[in-house]
Amino acid sequence: MRNLKNDIEKVLVSEAEIDAITTRIAAEIDRDYAGDDKKLVLVCILKGSLVFMGDLMKKVTVPVEIDCMKVSSYGKGSESSGQIHIALDLLRPDINTCDLLIIEDIVDSGVTLSHLTKYLALKGAKSVKTCTLLDKPSRRRVEFVPDYCGIEVPDEFVVGYGLDFAEMYRALPFVGVLKPEVYTK
Ligand code: IMP
Ligand code: MG
Repeated sequence: MRNLKNDIEKVLVSEAEIDAITTRIAAEIDRDYAGDDKKLVLVCILKGSLVFMGDLMKKVTVPVEIDCMKVSSYGKGSESSGQIHIALDLLRPDINTCDLLIIEDIVDSGVTLSHLTKYLALKGAKSVKTCTLLDKPSRRRVEFVPDYCGIEVPDEFVVGYGLDFAEMYRALPFVGVLKPEVYTK
């Protein structure tokens, strides 16, 4: 049987490091959303954020609701201005009472989250903040700073813990860098 771990060149963020990160961010969320006037909704950006969302929501102790969106960014790696396509929208009649916290796997160019935060604010959300497990600040094409960030990573293509290459590797429990031969095969 093929062992996907053999395709990994190095582990960038270990299971133990991820555990410490989700514990730290959950405590930050608890601190910031403690008030009775808050209605915190964690918005999972499918599919990459599924695993991060699952671990994080179990550690947050303030009351939370959850929701999902599916978003893809157009023109990645091209000269295009960078649009996003919303394949699954947030459909909540109560959005104007919701404090949305977008949960993302990785911020790369920044196009996805900068568009999405504006879009959800325009839809009438009471507040919109962002939380990412990984950040690649060196890759920004638009200015964007997440409100909560797990860890900054270098400009390498990473997989695991929800992140994929050609829909594979999402179930690995750590974040790793793929061996170059996996791309060129
Ligand atoms: P952005 O709009 O360029 O910030 O795109 C962020 C999205 O690109 C993420 O949600 C991922 O789906 C994808 N992405 C960016 N870098 C990586 C990577 O290293 N591995 C896997 N997916 C990535
Ligand atoms: Mg994603």
